[in-house]
Amino acid sequence: MLEPEPFRIKMIEPLTRLSREERKKKIESIGYNVFKLEAKDVFIDMLTDSGMSAMSDQQWGKMFTTEQAYAGGSSYRLLEKTISDIFGFQRFVPVHQGRASENILFSLTVKEGDYVPNNMHFDTTHANVKHKGGTPVNLVVDEAYEPGKPGDFKGNMDISKLKKFIEEKGKENIPVIMLTITNNTAGGQPVSMKNIKEVSELANEHDIPFFLDACRFAENAFFIKTKEKGYADRSVRDIVKEMFSYADGFTFSAKKDGLTNIGGLLGVKDEKLHKKCVELGIIIEGFPTYGGMACRELAAIAQGVRESTRFEYLKYRHQQVKYLGDLLHKAGVPIARPVGGHAVFIDGKEFLPHIPQVQFPAQSLTAELYIEGGVRGVELGTSAFGETDEEGNVLPALLEFMRLAIPRRVYTLNQLNFVAECVTSLHEKRDDIMGLERIYAPKLLGHFMAEFRPL
Ligand code: F0G
Repeated sequence: MLEPEPFRIKMIEPLTRLSREERKKKIESIGYNVFKLEAKDVFIDMLTDSGMSAMSDQQWGKMFTTEQAYAGGSSYRLLEKTISDIFGFQRFVPVHQGRASENILFSLTVKEGDYVPNNMHFDTTHANVKHKGGTPVNLVVDEAYEPGKPGDFKGNMDISKLKKFIEEKGKENIPVIMLTITNNTAGGQPVSMKNIKEVSELANEHDIPFFLDACRFAENAFFIKTKEKGYADRSVRDIVKEMFSYADGFTFSAKKDGLTNIGGLLGVKDEKLHKKCVELGIIIEGFPTYGGMACRELAAIAQGVRESTRFEYLKYRHQQVKYLGDLLHKAGVPIARPVGGHAVFIDGKEFLPHIPQVQFPAQSLTAELYIEGGVRGVELGTSAFGETDEEGNVLPALLEFMRLAIPRRVYTLNQLNFVAECVTSLHEKRDDIMGLERIYAPKLLGHFMAEFRPL
């Protein structure tokens, strides 16, 4: 039986639905890139889980009842207490969103020619490493590249690959090792505590700082509790504390498991590095007691992190993602399995085997899903992660996903039923879907602004 939601709805945002003809015209007019749609023209928005959470009355309340200040606001004190209580970190810098923490960290650590290994970089960490002259490297376990294959912790770092990589490149060329929990790029797949510990030990052995990309730390902790041997009886908070205890620092987008609409953090244990982060933070983000946000938003993060680490909430959260995944799987739609923490990932290669990856099957599927039902997913395939060679040829990405991200505490099961119906109906007529030609894309993070035309 499905368990009832551990909250009730207090405020709503009405939705309208354009006709199929109108949707078709819209998507044509914006070059088949759903990032360029106006939100009012989207019926169910699954572009991202980031910054899309419904905040609680407690979060809004704390935003109203802490004073607005440039320096020394009590929202900062609330956040400081939460970070210490939940993550066990005493030093951090608030920033306006996750990529700003990446910018500060990599600006201070990465130099031209360096390498930054990760289980898998997401688009912004990849771009931020490159932006500083470094090379981002993915050293995830091989199962991550087999979306249909079962497995409990398909987000893990491959320890032997990492060992070999450090030996080959030399620790002096690796300023930091990252581990992304959960592993968004591989389908929101979790990383086990054992793996976090092993990466940490290896990093320590070589004196390389170890940082978590902790955007979805609470969902990762839920998977550790429910899947990893020895953790069933441990509380989520206890598991979170242990996860962070192995790291020298973390980057964090509060727009995911902080349950807020904006915000991020850079956590750093080392006093000297922290000082440098504060100094650079002041130049590019703001004074550390507001860090690029309106001061009150820190209070929403402080409260959100507490709410996202409640087991009842996480159970509900996972139930929703699994519900949509099960509906699609039962209907024969190829998805990454088991479903991860924040989204259902549809395998574009399997869904549209007649479209070669250089014709962007997952992008085409994303555009078609919008036409079908006004549902907005996102391409995480060759447009987002593929490369282009010197002659301008498209080099396909290893994974070709359309992601349906589920915003936290936002949609009902009926809305998920509707999404599943739209995807299933597209699957039935998949042979009629054609590929796309990309006519424009900037060099870094090209998928946001890319334009396509039908072939
Ligand atoms: N790291 C991971 C694993 C992410 O998923 C994201 C963002 C970031 C870093 C950057 O955070 O957006 O606050 O700057 N992911 C969003 C997504 C955008 O749709 O998956 P940000």
